[in-house]
Amino acid sequence: MAAAAAGDVHEEMLNRRVILKRYVTGFPSEDDMEVVTGTARLAVPAGSTAVVLKNLYVSCDPYMRGRMTKHEDPTYVPDFVPGEVLTAFGVSKVVASGHPGFAVGDLVWGMTGWEEYTLVPNPALFFKINHPEIPLSYYTGVLGMPGMTAYVGLFHVAKPKKGEYVFVSAASGAVGQIVGQLAKLTGCYVVGSAGSDEKVNLLKAKFGFDEAFNYKKEADLNAALKRYFPEGIDIYFENVGGAMLDAVLLNMRLRGRIPVCGLISQYNLEQPEGPRNLACVITKRLRMEGFIVTDHFGEYHKFEEEMAGYLKEGKITYIEDVAVGLEKAPAALIGLYTGRNVGKQLVKVANE
Ligand SMILES: NC(=O)c1ccc[n+]([C@@H]2O[C@H](COP(=O)([O-])OP(=O)(O)OC[C@H]3O[C@@H](n4cnc5c(N)ncnc54)[C@H](OP(=O)(O)O)[C@@H]3O)[C@@H](O)[C@H]2O)c1
Repeated sequence: MAAAAAGDVHEEMLNRRVILKRYVTGFPSEDDMEVVTGTARLAVPAGSTAVVLKNLYVSCDPYMRGRMTKHEDPTYVPDFVPGEVLTAFGVSKVVASGHPGFAVGDLVWGMTGWEEYTLVPNPALFFKINHPEIPLSYYTGVLGMPGMTAYVGLFHVAKPKKGEYVFVSAASGAVGQIVGQLAKLTGCYVVGSAGSDEKVNLLKAKFGFDEAFNYKKEADLNAALKRYFPEGIDIYFENVGGAMLDAVLLNMRLRGRIPVCGLISQYNLEQPEGPRNLACVITKRLRMEGFIVTDHFGEYHKFEEEMAGYLKEGKITYIEDVAVGLEKAPAALIGLYTGRNVGKQLVKVANE
């Protein structure tokens, strides 16, 4: 990173950033985003409690597509603004601080920008990284938002019991790989679906799923689920929606639970598909419950300690797909909607 002007640490630095060019309808393209170069001052305004962050890793997450749509009614997270930098979870180092809780050199994770340096007016929602001995990039995934999503959806919403039958879709992704491993630690029988044979092999060989299948090779999803769950499904961790949800509903057991985490098959459709088999919710006394992980960030530190323990003990393993360089971020994000990513998709912005 070249300095725009020579001087002390308060100098202006060039700041590459990814902006949204326009609101998106349908499938996003790389051209909806643009890498531009601005400048950043590595100092906080006098008297403020702001921090300046040097971003090391930024995350690509499926929900970001929703923020590229212009919503008439506000939703749970604000729309991106054309011409402005995209924001996302990331891992950063504090390089200037006016906040008593954050010192220069601190490693943090939280909602930052897809850019090299970010001025955060109020860092209160950032978490300090307590386990820098674990790969820092994991704080975009297993030790960050997606890992906590898996934990909350499984343990707070689905509440698995030993011996139950668990099915996970998008199972090799950032959230799914953790759901499956946590369910195995609980003593469940776990099957995952994924969109390639490579991912299916990972599920079985690396993450310890009991079974896995490539849903793109199954002409009849209902028949595939009957094959893997002859006794039915107790918990379906829902990541995709669409045809998979319809097939799952037919295969749920009495009083089954469906934590509705995401519906990625619907995110780029201009007309979402409706589920056809909702009557099963009545006849089988099912509980479907949506959740948003940020509602549970109050218990993040408990989660961080538990998950860091699993990682260190080798009870949980994690796979990442790292794009190197901010200029790769738009393609990396779009790849989530075609299944190009193998494991948690993130972007390395700078060397640690
Ligand atoms: N509720 C919350 O608070 C919360 C928080 C985080 C994430 N989520 C949701 O959790 C889900 C998983 O997120 P993640 O970060 O773990 O993503 P991910 O699984 O790492 O990446 C997305 C994956 O979705 C699959 N996919 C893409 N298009 C699809 C389609 N049309 N039909 C079926 N599968 C498709 C692809 O895997 P395959 O190759 O296997 O198809 C792709 O690799 C998403 O729905 C996301 O929105 C919710």
